Amino acid sequence: MPLPQSFLDELIFRSDIVEIVSRYVSLKRSGSGYVGLCPFHNEKTPSFHVSADKQFYHCFGCGEGGNVISFIMKEENLPFVEAVRFLADLAGMTMPEEDGGADKARQHRDRLLHLNREAARFYHEQLMSEEGRGALQYLLDRGLSRKTITSFGLGYAHPDWDRLTKAMLEKGYTKYELEDAWLAKKNRSGGLYDAFRDRVMFPIIDIRGNVIAFGGRITHGDGPKYLNSGDTPVFSKSRNLFAMNFAKKTKGKRLILAEGYMDVIALHQAGFDCAVASLGTALTPDQCRLMGRYAEEVVISYDSDAAGQRAAQRAIDLLNSAGLQVKVLKIPGAKDPDEYIKSNGREAFALLLDNPQSDSEYRLAVIKAKYDLDVDAQKIQYLKEAAEYIATVASPVEREIVSHMVAQETGIASTVMAAEVKRAFTARSRREKKKSDAAALQPVRAVQPKEQGLRYKNPRSAVCEEKLLAIVLEDRALLERAEELLTPEDFSSDFLGNIYRKALDAARTGDVSVAALMAGLEENEARHLTGVLSGRVVSQDERRELEDYIRVIKEEKARSSMDGDRRLLEILNQKRERKG
Ligand code: UTP
Ligand code: MN
Repeated sequence: MPLPQSFLDELIFRSDIVEIVSRYVSLKRSGSGYVGLCPFHNEKTPSFHVSADKQFYHCFGCGEGGNVISFIMKEENLPFVEAVRFLADLAGMTMPEEDGGADKARQHRDRLLHLNREAARFYHEQLMSEEGRGALQYLLDRGLSRKTITSFGLGYAHPDWDRLTKAMLEKGYTKYELEDAWLAKKNRSGGLYDAFRDRVMFPIIDIRGNVIAFGGRITHGDGPKYLNSGDTPVFSKSRNLFAMNFAKKTKGKRLILAEGYMDVIALHQAGFDCAVASLGTALTPDQCRLMGRYAEEVVISYDSDAAGQRAAQRAIDLLNSAGLQVKVLKIPGAKDPDEYIKSNGREAFALLLDNPQSDSEYRLAVIKAKYDLDVDAQKIQYLKEAAEYIATVASPVEREIVSHMVAQETGIASTVMAAEVKRAFTARSRREKKKSDAAALQPVRAVQPKEQGLRYKNPRSAVCEEKLLAIVLEDRALLERAEELLTPEDFSSDFLGNIYRKALDAARTGDVSVAALMAGLEENEARHLTGVLSGRVVSQDERRELEDYIRVIKEEKARSSMDGDRRLLEILNQKRERKG
């Protein structure tokens, strides 16, 4: 349900952009406005401008721009309505009643968040009590300081069946709420028992500081080593990262991605305040996007076993797709960062961190490990496979560098290696083209937006429209090229056509900013659009790709108007028959 425009106008009027931005960026007066260091990209000289008159911001460095709402959306990583709520709270305004159901759901979520916070407090008190002595000793033995234990809010769940349940019911929470928060489970006779028992508890806290879930580790006995909350109305495993609430405040533009709770806590204790971990599952695109909001580079620091290394491989691609630079840390002689720091100290880890392998060095090392370079036949295999890999590297400069590196280490001439890479590259482009041609001919399935009210009439065209938007919103020159060939009316989707129109309008009067385009959209539309834009895989020849999309869009347009003509013709014929 859209918020009334009058409310938004009032909110924007009452939320002075200079004051809001100043909470995050130190601003200096300059001309009629203010400047500061852009919070959205890394820079040394300020190019982030805030206009007090016009109440918008714009960065001349990275092109971000928008109003106070889009600023909060980006800075606090919130969807539109949440950003509005955030500002409304600051401005002392009450949100207009959304529809009754949504409001109820929100109240329910608020209750669950309060419940989680109380539960975390309860677990922490238990840890510090006489009954928690063993658990506390376990954490101390693992090298955690009392200060660390407190700042991460670690706790202990008593072995009793219903310690927490009883305490929370007493505080007025309902059985339903306990179950829905994944803190209690129902037994066969319908009674409740604590979901976490006899475990050391790790609260999971989101970037707004809400306790949204828990992980619990056994310290003795049988059972899964870690137990994690399932998804609840306030928790989605795939969208959150452990310790992101701390890491988002790190000074640098780098995050360390580890596998486990204990790794992250050990890293923070050793002063690496930028460490996060995914929550007992493989890394997801949403988590990568979350990291992308706060960092430019991610250093993967997974376990050194085979499983950890495989997971690292997968993570590289996902992180790259989210626009992040990736490095993979090899942890020599230890299972994981926690153990490495424990036996070698923080300086040793800092050294590792500053000399990690780049993504391509890492990939090559993995390939190289398969071959014995002293055997000529194997060396040739290695060169071939390395060339195949290098051909997949998007940047020509990087291809050059890596190919040179391989030539040097194997002692062959650089030109020979370069030729091999070129061959692999051409073969690959040919394969990809075949694939994309085939894909364009396939009926398109599973492209419908998840959002209600955004169904595509013509999925084949819509896919191309989405991809085209992703290209032109990133590249001004390509937007201009598209404008020569394609009008918004050519789009089969009104929603996508409309964004294209807005982008063209924006380009005519100044800069095209996705944030500004988004501010005029409804939440579900904005969400769908960000999805479209973040799913982009950078291709070798964008102009060519763009023209392919335009071709399909025009074909589909022609076909649909032909369908229309044919229908008209039929109606005419029918009429004629009736007359005749
Ligand atoms: P690890 O087994 O590597 O544990 O699992 P760890 O982090 O090194 O734990 P310690 O040092 O033995 O205490 C890595 C992560 O995988 C998830 C947890 O998030 C854990 O931190 N995991 C592991 C589970 O969710 N369940 C399990 O049973 C085991
Ligand atoms: Mn460990």
